[in-house]
Amino acid sequence: MEKVIDLRRDTITLPTEEMREAAFRSPLGDAVYGEDPRQRELEELTAFILGKERAIFLPSGTMGNLVALLAHTERGNEMILEENAHIFTSETGGLAQVAGLMVKTLRGEDGAPEPRDVERAIRPENIHYPRTALIGLENTHYRYGGIVVPLSKFEKMREVADRHHLSIHLDGARLFNAAVYLGVEAKEIARYCDSVMISLSKGLGAPVGSLLAGSGDFIKEAERYRKMLGGGMRQTGWLCACGILALSEDNISRLQEDHDNARFLAEGLQSLPGIEVNQHQVQTNFVLADLSQSQLKASVFLQRLRDEGILATQVDDFRVRFVTSREVEREDITVALQVIKEVIYI
Ligand SMILES: Cc1ncc(COP(=O)(O)O)c(C=O)c1O
Repeated sequence: MEKVIDLRRDTITLPTEEMREAAFRSPLGDAVYGEDPRQRELEELTAFILGKERAIFLPSGTMGNLVALLAHTERGNEMILEENAHIFTSETGGLAQVAGLMVKTLRGEDGAPEPRDVERAIRPENIHYPRTALIGLENTHYRYGGIVVPLSKFEKMREVADRHHLSIHLDGARLFNAAVYLGVEAKEIARYCDSVMISLSKGLGAPVGSLLAGSGDFIKEAERYRKMLGGGMRQTGWLCACGILALSEDNISRLQEDHDNARFLAEGLQSLPGIEVNQHQVQTNFVLADLSQSQLKASVFLQRLRDEGILATQVDDFRVRFVTSREVEREDITVALQVIKEVIYI
């Protein structure tokens, strides 16, 4: 069978041979008792990379975000989020169901609301109002096509948070993509935030795992909530050995290849009549393509691609999302473009 070119998402990445080898050889211990050497090493490495006092390993980004919300807030508090934030749209409403939070959503086309709008949305102290406790940011922003929130916005958001004694949590599932795009270290983004969640199992290629980083006191609290949610795992060394390699400098800088491939794909798509790509949005490893000019429904287009062994994701009636990752090479993009050219005009 011909190779399937999977452009659905970067979570399809498989661990490298080096990761498999490191996992196999990893020393193991009971991580709930703090006895797994590789988990401890990964947590210390992450804290260092993000410039925070401590970090903890969790099974998923969703759990990392939820633990952060629980540790930052009290039930009945309100948090402010961009209206397309993953925490709001795609984490099963855990923020309300489990953390008991109300949400004020604001729109922000570049992935984050304007700091002045955030400031206006903060509730004054009043017996009738819930208390605003937390601002949530996401970088890169999933639903805006992997767009990078600029550092200037983080800086202004921090000023707002400080004026009102609020915390900022960063959903950094793809923080390293943002850092590579901006040409800065991840800690340069993380410094504006009280807590940061990063994922190892997306473009970085580890099979499982996320980390949550913050101050020592914050992480002490977060550890309790991780346990409460069932995220206290035992012999995690298998996974953490992969995670340590995922955070190597070479592996992080390799993300640039995914960004270059996304740009190559975006430019190729743009040259085809009937397809529109907002080139400004193509900053990291996502490409959002709009087929409305061609009148071809996304579902029909994707079925035609699937028949030819190419996978992508439907966003809405006329939009599709392509995501590049280590599993997709430049030649695959060239093949995909050729097939797209053929199927779009049938
Ligand atoms: C921006 C963002 N945040 C959080 C998550 C949740 O991560 P996980 O799938 O590990 O729960 C994802 C997953 O795709 C994501 O894209």
